[in-house]
Amino acid sequence: MSTSYEIRIDGHLDPHWSTRLGGLTITHRPDGTTALTGPIADQSALHGVLSSLRDLAAPLLSIDSKATPRSQARDPLDRVAWPRTTDRLTIRRAVSGDADATFAFRRREDVARWLTELPTDRARYGDAFTDPQRLATTLIIERDGHVLGDLMLRVEDAWTQKEAQPHGKGRQAELAWVLDPAHSGHGYATEAARELLRVCFDDLDLHRVTATCFADNTPSWRLMERIGLRRELHTRADALHRSGRWMDTYGYALTAPEWPQSCPRAGSQD
Ligand SMILES: CC(C)(COP(=O)(O)OP(=O)(O)OC[C@H]1O[C@@H](n2cnc3c(N)ncnc32)[C@H](O)[C@@H]1OP(=O)(O)O)[C@@H](O)C(=O)NCCC(=O)NCCS
Repeated sequence: MSTSYEIRIDGHLDPHWSTRLGGLTITHRPDGTTALTGPIADQSALHGVLSSLRDLAAPLLSIDSKATPRSQARDPLDRVAWPRTTDRLTIRRAVSGDADATFAFRRREDVARWLTELPTDRARYGDAFTDPQRLATTLIIERDGHVLGDLMLRVEDAWTQKEAQPHGKGRQAELAWVLDPAHSGHGYATEAARELLRVCFDDLDLHRVTATCFADNTPSWRLMERIGLRRELHTRADALHRSGRWMDTYGYALTAPEWPQSCPRAGSQD
């Protein structure tokens, strides 16, 4: 749950205090009061806002809160017009009904080898796949109405210093991809991932996009390099594989100023 607040104070508070007040929206009311509205993460953040108001000598009139279920929280991908089409593919939001098609390839050992989980039970997989939070970050790659794979596009807050927090909210994303092996080797994942970069930088106005993989997952990091991501992290033995081996991780990223100049054009295979 996140909690939305409306805090009323007497008098008109200058809007430039918004940053100091956790990024809450400052609105002047005709009755001479000010409303501070927006989500506040937890009790300690609320305490911080109230202390700042005290420091500013702003007379507190009232505090109203409304809990918002996660499923109703604003979904960043709602800001994009779906589906997206590329030369050969359609990329659309995932729906519960995609559980069967995705389970068909995600249950395979050769597909799940580098993934977080090797699902074996269809019912349990269905529960996880249809979790609203997972559906909100999952996209489906289709060709001629046939599901070829799925993608993750998870918008996140950037790390910021406290004062810059409102400006880092939702400014980066993590990407991931899974293809049915029946369709690998044709550049479909590359084509879909390039479209994701367009969504991230052109539509969502993100600052930075990241992707990580086991260093041994060569097809995945080759894909990252094909679409123009830059390797900026190699961590040693930080990830425990289900085989019992501690393995290295590669981290790749691209920032908005680098886009799209550093990215090979669609159609390029290298
Ligand atoms: C990662 C994964 C999606 C990559 O799949 P892929 O088939 O290699 O990627 P693409 O669909 O982009 O195809 C690229 C391959 O097709 C070839 N290709 C053919 N036509 C192409 C085209 N028009 N454009 C680009 N590549 C093309 C490329 O040369 C490349 O082959 P190569 O690696 O032998 O050089 C796939 O291996 C997978 O799903 N793995 C399991 C899940 C996983 O590990 N996900 C990543 C977790 S971090």
